[in-house]
Amino acid sequence: MAKLPYTLWIEGHRVLTWDQRRLPFREEVIELSTWQEAAHAIRSMQVRGAPLIGVTAAFGVALGLRELAGSGRHSSLTAAQTALDEICASLIATRPTAVNLAWGVNQVRRAVAQAPHPDWARVAWARALELHAADAQCNAEIGNHGLSAWKEMIARAKDQARPLQILTHCNAGALATVAWGTALAPVYQAHQQGIAVHVWVDETRPRNQGASLTAWELARAGVPHTVIADNAGGLLMMRGQVDVVIVGCDRVAANGDVVNKIGTYLKALAARAHQIPFWVACPLSTIDPDTPGGMQVDIEDREASEVEQMQGLVEDQSSALYQQMVSVRVVPVGSAVLNPAFDITPAALVSGLITERGVIPATGKAICQVLALEPA
Ligand code: MRU
Repeated sequence: MAKLPYTLWIEGHRVLTWDQRRLPFREEVIELSTWQEAAHAIRSMQVRGAPLIGVTAAFGVALGLRELAGSGRHSSLTAAQTALDEICASLIATRPTAVNLAWGVNQVRRAVAQAPHPDWARVAWARALELHAADAQCNAEIGNHGLSAWKEMIARAKDQARPLQILTHCNAGALATVAWGTALAPVYQAHQQGIAVHVWVDETRPRNQGASLTAWELARAGVPHTVIADNAGGLLMMRGQVDVVIVGCDRVAANGDVVNKIGTYLKALAARAHQIPFWVACPLSTIDPDTPGGMQVDIEDREASEVEQMQGLVEDQSSALYQQMVSVRVVPVGSAVLNPAFDITPAALVSGLITERGVIPATGKAICQVLALEPA
């Protein structure tokens, strides 16, 4: 595949990324120079999306150890261990649902544990760089496997001289990863191979990751797409305007249940009702063999303000705020609000998991088998 720009990139020893809270209206690059800045970026959703959170957290540990090495505070092993524990625990506590977060932290931690403590900063940085490169590679592989799984549907659409119609929820594209994305990787692959595709982009209230982020990156890549209100998907499926649904995910439980952005479950139900394949793209780092089922996953409850307000750009030229990004209230003051950020799609509704090792059924048995083949 030709190169799409990376979402998180390294210049020398600098960690750079987009501030995703400002997209699509402001393309602002931020530097993460301390572990606290990495933690803040995850917590405040400057960076988001399970794989990107994992890699950011890995660099967070590396930045923390670099800071410690510079300060001389980790001259004794015990002091270094205490500091490392604190950094790792704080990073892991930033968001609860995406398992990639703890995975990224633990990958670096494990590498460090095998090195003498004066080398920790160097080893941690090297491991974070490896995870960074591996994420881009893994997503390119997910793209290949996804495209193979879609072969027949692509041929059918081609016979009918129309694009393959894909529906996606939230943002599981390049912006949710280091590069390519998970759910959008097969879409980018198809587009680059000259296969006609069109993406229905769920807006994804309350934070609008679909309307703001997925639409932004598809537009940059020149992929035809249409943003729809979250509730439009069912009608489009009923009318035969959707060939396939593909989403990313934040955690796959040991039984194959999928936890992803709120609203995913309703799309899976509608897809099942209309016999439309519902695929989940995920790296193996998103599979959590320690959580038996989706109901055991800690679902992040976020602030009411995300539902009460909407953020956008003022387009009224007569306004003093013209071209400013503002939040406006859409819910009456005094109404109660609940804001769960993720939901659970039962494994039975999932056509398959598209991983870097190939497509597997969303079953406990298949998950055990694929994980058993992975290096510890
Ligand atoms: O709250 P967010 O924006 O971090 O949620 C992101 C999602 O739900 C994505 O679909 C998921 O992380 C998969 S990203 C490849």
